[in-house]
Amino acid sequence: MTASRDIDRAVRALRRGLLVAFPTETVYGLGADARNPDALARLYSAKGRPPTHPVIVHLARPSQLSAWAAGVSAAAHAVTEAFWPGPLTVVVRRDPRVLDAVTGGEATVGLRVPDQPLALELLDAFGEGLAAPSANRFGRVSPTTAADVVAELGDVVEVVLDGGPCRVGVESTIVDCSRDGVAILRPGAISREAIEAATGVAVRTAAGDPVRAPGTLKSHYAPRATVLLVTADEIEARARDLVDAGTSVAVLALVEAFGAAIPEQFRSRGAKAKDVPSVTILDPPRDVDEYARMLYARLREVDRRGIDVLLAVPPPETGIGTAVADRLRRASGREGS
Ligand code: TXA
Ligand code: MG
Repeated sequence: MTASRDIDRAVRALRRGLLVAFPTETVYGLGADARNPDALARLYSAKGRPPTHPVIVHLARPSQLSAWAAGVSAAAHAVTEAFWPGPLTVVVRRDPRVLDAVTGGEATVGLRVPDQPLALELLDAFGEGLAAPSANRFGRVSPTTAADVVAELGDVVEVVLDGGPCRVGVESTIVDCSRDGVAILRPGAISREAIEAATGVAVRTAAGDPVRAPGTLKSHYAPRATVLLVTADEIEARARDLVDAGTSVAVLALVEAFGAAIPEQFRSRGAKAKDVPSVTILDPPRDVDEYARMLYARLREVDRRGIDVLLAVPPPETGIGTAVADRLRRASGREGS
């Protein structure tokens, strides 16, 4: 399996009920014809995903919303108008024609118009909705390059479209507009403040919300390594204790978390962590946007290098920092917000 930019081949595969991985601005998606039950069955089995977990339907343009939604509230209209194409999924009451396999039997459906040229080209050429979860096995780290997809799912996808590395790096903000009010089910690049400004409504968060969003399960987005969340002040002592105990350790934190300079004893980047029990400083992001963009690549790197423990300092929860901190909490197996 190699990645390509062959849209025609991808569309032919989708029409035959096969799976096509494609880039979005957030992460790579694993696409299947959302109107084809066989294609959806193939999708769930490829991901190893429980059949009760709903998938997002991707559309080429906002005008297709009415074919999938039973009714579009003022809030749903406002957010799709403001943020589509873009990293926002809206949950609305579903049109009766939407298959149960898409919604996990729920009365609602999640919809999104991605902001990625190759994705839009594919959706436009296909003409129908594409059910597309992130192109990783269930519970694992989302892929942000075509190579990640080939490595993880190359044996089950017919085509992998290569759009280069994803611009945002963490999954879309999910906004529930299916009931009264507006609730964020999963934080992403579109912030609560931006949604409140667009809708003029105070936004609830998911804590205690009865609406299911399986991406909000504890222990999701997880690498094989143990992820421990620490503050910048704790890095040095925690790393030393772990190394003394014979554990290989990597550190992920914003540049600013290291103060003026990265401490001398941490300058072991490139060391073979498996053989030498030393600390690996992962290339530190300079701001929250870069943290989001590189997060999943770093989690994959930790596993590739066979590192036992990742000490991660979550970024400040401003802008997309909220989503990065949320994914780090889930990677560490702790409850998210
Ligand atoms: O950025 C993204 O959203 C990426 C790209 C590929 O578009 N997709 C993605 O899909 O993250 P997935 O399947 O990995 O996560 C979709 C999340 C799940 O947590 C699911 O529970 C939630 O969306 N979801 C989908 N439909 C829903 C619905 N009707 N009600 C509540 N949650 C829903
Ligand atoms: Mg996912």
